[in-house]
Amino acid sequence: MAQTWTPNSWRQKPIQQVPDYPDLAALDSVEARLAKYPPLVFAGEARRLKSALANVAEGRGFLLQGGDCAESFAEHGADTIRDFFRAFLQMAVVLTFGAQQPVVKVGRIAGQFAKPRSSGVEKQGDVTLPSYRGDIINGIEFTEEARVPNPERQVMAYRQSAATLNLLRAFAMGGYANLENVHQWMLGFVKDSPQAERYRKLADRISETMDFMKAIGITAENHPSLRETDFFTSHEALLLGYEQALTRVDSTSGDWYATSGHMIWIGDRTRQPDHAHIEYCRGIENPLGLKCGPSLTADGLLELIDILNPANEAGRLTLICRFGHDKVAEHLPRLIRAVEREGKKVVWSCDPMHGNTITLNNYKTRPFERILSEVESFFQIHRAEGSHPGGIHIEMTGNDVTECTGGARALSGDDLADRYHTHCDPRLNADQALELAFLLAERMKGGRDEKKMVVNG
Ligand code: TRP
Ligand code: MN
Repeated sequence: MAQTWTPNSWRQKPIQQVPDYPDLAALDSVEARLAKYPPLVFAGEARRLKSALANVAEGRGFLLQGGDCAESFAEHGADTIRDFFRAFLQMAVVLTFGAQQPVVKVGRIAGQFAKPRSSGVEKQGDVTLPSYRGDIINGIEFTEEARVPNPERQVMAYRQSAATLNLLRAFAMGGYANLENVHQWMLGFVKDSPQAERYRKLADRISETMDFMKAIGITAENHPSLRETDFFTSHEALLLGYEQALTRVDSTSGDWYATSGHMIWIGDRTRQPDHAHIEYCRGIENPLGLKCGPSLTADGLLELIDILNPANEAGRLTLICRFGHDKVAEHLPRLIRAVEREGKKVVWSCDPMHGNTITLNNYKTRPFERILSEVESFFQIHRAEGSHPGGIHIEMTGNDVTECTGGARALSGDDLADRYHTHCDPRLNADQALELAFLLAERMKGGRDEKKMVVNG
């Protein structure tokens, strides 16, 4: 049986992806300081997200999770946060309409700072330095100085997360997220898109619905739910010392919660069942994500589900599948069958980014067509298996970057150099992200029409 869990029991386990801090006393002192700081989120909010995700697991909702691959200290500013939120909310409206279901909104934001790396070192010419592991650990500049892990960065990441979350809460509850605003932004996007004709149909139907609601007296003035939205934060729980410092007992329930974000996930490289990351995550009550890549077997997945969600609680576990457009058909069905056979309650989400990274003109990029193709296969496979395609997990920004190729503006390999700003993996820009939402919404509606035909036919 499972051994007693404590916030530091992970320290007894083997661990992957740990930075090599030269000054362990300085690290201890930072962790002790963080442990006294206020929590960033509180347990009641994490429970609220869990119950929203439970609905998704039961087939009655859709999860939209997205944001930067890695947040950075340099790009911390109101405009970046606002532009992200603006693009994200537009996606949420389009998907809510497409799915005809509530969309659970979770950002990869306000804590997404630590990055797992495939190699511990980076080589440029004949210089070899430690790899960049995210701004919470070291600096991205290719100098010996920048690449030394510095614990003070954890305090900076904590403060940036607090400030980011503060603005997001204000946006979500203070009027910026008003459905009427978001609808107007969305119409602006459609008007300017090279694919305007294609998206207009759906946009017009949303407009008609809004007009109808207004006509019968449902407005943002008398219905707070039209001007407010629930927005949650998430990040990969990679840097466990930081996570432990922010792990707190909830006074209402007596349970342990990670208070660094509402939802945290476990990466594909750190999901060994007897290792530290799984040990830490099993003991906290937050909703968890688990990245599932091609090397995960059906039995391996069931073992992890038993460790992370022994009570089979709906909403606790989201499986974030990242296989690649050409591999999803090979790997996803066996996982779905095993989970369905055992009656395990999970949210199935599709990360169409991480399995579709290629190198073009020396830039890491992702072709939009492959991203779309992985999501479409994900939907088709779930439909064939009779399970619920519950969500998407994407890397995106609200800025007009040139990091992924393709999309309605047909960015080419030669365009990548123009505005390639990411600190890690290539993100969809605002237009590409919104386009993905439109194409998905079309597909969701198509799926519903098919179902109706089966029922009526
Ligand atoms: N409160 C509802 C929701 O969050 C409706 C809503 C208000 C909304 N503002 C929004 C939906 C912005 C999407 C985007 O679903
Ligand atoms: Mn990434």
